[in-house]
Amino acid sequence: MDTSQDQLGSAPLGQTEGPEKREGSEEPTCSLASSRHRKFAIWLISLGMVALVALAAGCAPRTADPSSGSGSEDTTATVAWSMQSDCATCHLAETNEQDPTAPATVHEQEGTTCITCHADEEKMTAVHEGATADLPMPTRLKKTEVDPTLCGSCHEADELATLTVASTVITDTEGTVVNPHDIPDNSSHNSITCINCHQVHEPAASLPDNSLNTCFNCHHEKVLQCGTCHD
Ligand code: HEC
Ligand code: HEC
Ligand code: HEC
Ligand code: HEC
Ligand code: HEC
Ligand code: HEC
Repeated sequence: MDTSQDQLGSAPLGQTEGPEKREGSEEPTCSLASSRHRKFAIWLISLGMVALVALAAGCAPRTADPSSGSGSEDTTATVAWSMQSDCATCHLAETNEQDPTAPATVHEQEGTTCITCHADEEKMTAVHEGATADLPMPTRLKKTEVDPTLCGSCHEADELATLTVASTVITDTEGTVVNPHDIPDNSSHNSITCINCHQVHEPAASLPDNSLNTCFNCHHEKVLQCGTCHD
């Protein structure tokens, strides 16, 4: 979809660029040539239409050539993947088929597009070399990352903690409740990021499970105070 839009978008661009340059530098040459050719043509007219056609062909392609030339170059260029390609052509699971409650869908509605998060243009371009819609689509990130610190550029940590101050999602078997955005500050917790809990392409309903699993990976008895059992 977008590839054809790109084509439509860049073809006229190439065309307006072409004639503009031509008008400045080569129009005089062309009109000089054509006025000379016109006298020549009158003299030649008895030789018939063949000569006129040849003359017309001598001038016309000068303007037609550059636009049609760059037009076909553009076509090859825009077939290739770019950060502006329509992701939905290929990634159905993260677009058309995605649960409407998934954070990525919510972001899309708020104007945060795919490439805001999948922002590493160099790696993204490498991954998409030769990509086509009939190849198997990835079910997780393998060759690229989404920078988890990016989330913080729009979401303030203090603000989040305030929003979820009453949340009981993270409750252990002893009844200890922890605010998911205000977990104790210790070195073991440094590696926890937003996307450990918020898997952005999953339905919102998976959030409580993801959150508890994030904690209980280490808090193995589902009790948050280690000291309850160990020294
Ligand atoms: C022509 C089909 C096509 C289009 C259009 C497309 N992709 Fe992909 N994408 C693929 C294929 C195929 C792969 C798997 C490539 C591989 O793993 O070698 C892929 C892989 C990915 C990955 C996983 C990279 C990783 O870490 O393994 C992400 C993220 C991604 N695409 C995002 C996007 C975004 C964002 C867009 C829109 C700007 C987009 N794609 C447009 C076909 C496409
Ligand atoms: C470009 C700004 C921007 C970035 C980057 C961003 N967000 Fe958001 N996010 C928003 C906006 C705007 C909303 C909608 C308003 C709100 O709920 O705060 C939102 C909403 C959310 C929501 C609530 C969704 C819902 O169901 O209402 C979650 C969860 C979220 N973001 C997580 C993340 C995570 C995780 C990241 C990083 C991977 C991230 N955001 C990156 C702007 C951003
Ligand atoms: C330990 C898991 C966990 C982590 C880490 C986490 N969240 Fe959350 N987040 C939650 C849970 C659980 C909720 C829902 C709380 C509720 O509704 O009870 C939530 C809610 C939200 C909301 C919606 C708040 C509202 O009520 O409008 C946003 C936005 C959000 N998180 C963004 C983020 C961002 C951005 C990060 C990283 C800076 C982050 N979260 C880190 C678990 C987590
Ligand atoms: C708010 C940030 C954000 C937005 C917006 C976003 N993604 Fe993602 N995407 C991620 C993260 C983070 C992952 C890694 C999985 C996870 O933790 O949820 C991911 C994973 C992926 C993957 C790997 C397969 C998978 O589902 O895990 C693909 C493909 C992908 N995204 C494509 C897209 C496309 C296409 C869009 C636009 C419709 C998009 N993403 C929008 C953050 C985002
Ligand atoms: C990488 C392992 C790891 C993960 C993941 C983890 N913790 Fe911890 N947590 C620890 C360790 C180790 C301690 C005790 C050592 C310490 O205090 O430094 C601890 C201590 C705690 C404590 C007691 C700290 C205190 O000062 O009273 C609480 C509460 C806690 N974690 C909550 C959580 C919550 C909530 C999550 C999920 C968002 C979580 N932890 C995820 C390893 C982890
Ligand atoms: C509810 C009680 C309880 C809590 C809380 C608890 N543990 Fe354990 N832990 C155990 C039990 C029971 C074992 C297995 C006993 C054994 O094999 O010696 C164990 C085993 C371990 C072991 C393996 C020890 C070994 O010798 O193999 C480690 C490491 C450990 N716990 C770390 C932690 C950490 C870190 C925390 C806090 C994040 C924690 N535990 C919280 C009960 C608990």
